[in-house]
Amino acid sequence: MFKFHLFLFHVSGFLFFSHQFCYGKVMMEYIGATGVPVKLDDVPIEDGIDFHFLLSFAIDADPSGNSQNGKFSPYWADTLTPESVAAIKQSHPNVKALASLSGWSIGNKVLRWYNPVDVQQWISNAFSSLSSIAQQYHLDGIDIDYENFPRRNSNFAYCIGELITLLKNQSVISLATIAPYHKTVPAYIELFENYGDVIDFVNYQFYTDKVRQARSYVEAFKLRAGQFDKDKVLPSYEVNGRGIQGDAFFDALRLLEANGFSVNGVMIFSADASSSGHYYYETKSQDFLLNSTVSV
Ligand SMILES: *[C@@H]1O[C@H](CO)[C@@H](O)[C@H](O)[C@H]1NC(C)=O
Ligand SMILES: *[C@@H]1O[C@H](CO)[C@@H](O)[C@H](O)[C@H]1NC(C)=O
Repeated sequence: MFKFHLFLFHVSGFLFFSHQFCYGKVMMEYIGATGVPVKLDDVPIEDGIDFHFLLSFAIDADPSGNSQNGKFSPYWADTLTPESVAAIKQSHPNVKALASLSGWSIGNKVLRWYNPVDVQQWISNAFSSLSSIAQQYHLDGIDIDYENFPRRNSNFAYCIGELITLLKNQSVISLATIAPYHKTVPAYIELFENYGDVIDFVNYQFYTDKVRQARSYVEAFKLRAGQFDKDKVLPSYEVNGRGIQGDAFFDALRLLEANGFSVNGVMIFSADASSSGHYYYETKSQDFLLNSTVSV
């Protein structure tokens, strides 16, 4: 056991220079989006993995869906209290918590990037509202999950890129991730090309590509790795959802490695869906990541 820890420390020391992370392997888990009373401490968390909870969602809108010019509020499940975030981080020092921004909808209103008229005011409002949510909920980062965009001339990349830069510069957050899906790729490429230095991981929603076989999953991964950064793009899985399902996902992860890609983490949507299925995919994904850490 002692030897094992020394080895991990050695691995982390090595990866520190290339990825700036302690362990180098990350688990991303969306939680709290559906209203299911899901709890952080029900989710299996392995030592030796950087485990990131993505609290879903913080939204720039009132409960009726009216936009608030950058003033975000938390809308994730009531069970995800500030105390429960503090407690899980205390019992598992490898846990970090991020607020995921926007998501698809609030109530029955579809959310979209709306091109704020006064961009500096929007950035300033977003910075202060997210700073206070981060302080209240003990957050380490934000995830960008806008899913709908105007047809043209979006100021999304500028506003979000400047927001992340400012939050990191003021040490409000240390982590930022983005969650494109096939229809939103152009907006996120613009963001990533201009602000990639402050974006740590790409939680690409592979399940929206509706790829069902391991071999086609690898093709989809190649495409997205080329559009973003192969070391930042994480394979993802939707529990009881679209795309590849069941153990074929782990065949796909093995095939990615066989094709020379390094699987630096896994994103799962979502703990809400897994809570009735004993978190099979969370357990097995971490098992996979730990196996491939040891064989580095
Ligand atoms: C924040 O930005 C200032 C001005 O560009 C820079 O000097 C400083 O090093 C930055 N701090 C961090 C923590 O990035
Ligand atoms: C991890 O390694 C163990 C031991 O070799 C193996 O039994 C298990 O199936 C592996 N898990 C995954 C998810 O690949």
